[in-house]
Amino acid sequence: MQGKLTIDPSNQIAKVDDRLYSSLIEHLGRAVYEGLYDPDSPQADKDGIRQDVVKAVKDLNIDLVRYPGGNFVSGFNWEDSVGPKDQRPTRLDLAWRSIETNQFGLHEFMKWTKQTGTRPDMAVNLGSRGIDAARNLIEYCNFPGGTYWSDLRKKNGAKEPFNIKTWCLGNEMDGDWQIGHKTAAEYGRLAHETAKVMRLVDPDIDLVVSGSSTREMATFGSWEETVLDHTYDDVDFLSLHRYYDNEENDLHNFLAKSVDFDEFISGIVAVCDAVKARKHSDKTLNLALDEWNVWYHSHKQDDETAPWQQAPHLLEDHYNFEDALMVGTMLITLLKHADRVKIACLAQLVNVIAPIMTTKQGIWLQSIFFPFMQVSKYGRGIALTPQQTADTYDSKDFKDVPYLDSMAVYNPDQNEVVIFAENKGEQAMDFTTTLNGFNVDHLEAATQFCGYDIKQTNEDQTMKIQPHDHVNVTDGVLKTQLEPLSWNMFRVS
Ligand code: AHR
Repeated sequence: MQGKLTIDPSNQIAKVDDRLYSSLIEHLGRAVYEGLYDPDSPQADKDGIRQDVVKAVKDLNIDLVRYPGGNFVSGFNWEDSVGPKDQRPTRLDLAWRSIETNQFGLHEFMKWTKQTGTRPDMAVNLGSRGIDAARNLIEYCNFPGGTYWSDLRKKNGAKEPFNIKTWCLGNEMDGDWQIGHKTAAEYGRLAHETAKVMRLVDPDIDLVVSGSSTREMATFGSWEETVLDHTYDDVDFLSLHRYYDNEENDLHNFLAKSVDFDEFISGIVAVCDAVKARKHSDKTLNLALDEWNVWYHSHKQDDETAPWQQAPHLLEDHYNFEDALMVGTMLITLLKHADRVKIACLAQLVNVIAPIMTTKQGIWLQSIFFPFMQVSKYGRGIALTPQQTADTYDSKDFKDVPYLDSMAVYNPDQNEVVIFAENKGEQAMDFTTTLNGFNVDHLEAATQFCGYDIKQTNEDQTMKIQPHDHVNVTDGVLKTQLEPLSWNMFRVS
């Protein structure tokens, strides 16, 4: 099998936005309780924040963390989560049919973002609540002082405003599972009015309006058109969500779903641009892919989990090696859309469909942790248009799928070209990269992630990125073999 990648410094997609490497923490299962926060764990600091998790989050180089949901936010009273802990109410969380104690709330989350070097991406409840709760929350968070809500923040221990920049206008409002689900017209009007009022409190915020929950929604496309008709001038980003599964146990069809991911993003870009044209607008709307991942392993167990538990084991997918390959090809797809996708949240971060898992004593890292960590650390700079040729295959749902998925990013600060390449085939691939017009000749690092049974997980902690020693860079050409079913990275400076 053959695969060729040609890159050129003048053939640029866009600068990669730091927010492309973001994530989501939802009050769901053991994400917050036993995940971020566990006063009973030996890993916790004096405030109950788990330091082993903090370190792993730092290793992932996460930028934004969307919070507090997800579906949870559509039934959440933010006021429950501030003030003295012994006075915070315990509530039913109807989204996940769990018990929410509110022992971890807004101030605790803000402390956690400081420890992890992340930034908050705060969602407001447009399901069971609306404009009033949203304006009070932003006043509490971002107004300096001298008013009821900002002074309450001070009284609760935060003298300086949180100055939260990024805000999501609800979550998955197109889904009938959502508390307070709305039609596109109802949501569009509410989002417009909420955006207006939030900007009256703080004109400097960035706003994300909710797009389709999946590409399969009956309203897909028309939802975006109607919502953007109401909100195009008010918002900075349109959100979209995408999860994939391998329920059919068909590896090649599973890995080919990156084609669907690519088409999904392109389709939404087209809808945004159609609204732009119709409105004769000068503004180009960017995308926030604020939930993406593989999600399916835990479905059956979740269906059998008894309701009304506090921090139940929910959505605890244990990811295997083929899932890591899927996450790798999704990351490459995101980089290919770096011109329009500016925020992307791997959903989620800890314990719930997550790269990081906790036990009382410590953490373990899932297979998907590794490709995400590499792209997040080294995929910074300018995304370059990949000119690629490769052998192809047909799968159940997709035709002419390249066995090779590859992408390069040029980091001008380091004068470094970083190449990510995945071989989706079960045979080794001769892989050549031609680096036209770069002033680089030294192979800084070459790593490969391969050789595991596709169903193996990392519960025993054996997975790692291995050094690769078969690569030469001669006269601007990088020639190597990609192992069967492998995720690879090359850094050339
Ligand atoms: O991430 C898990 C759930 O998936 C989120 O709560 C929701 O927004 C989506 O359906």
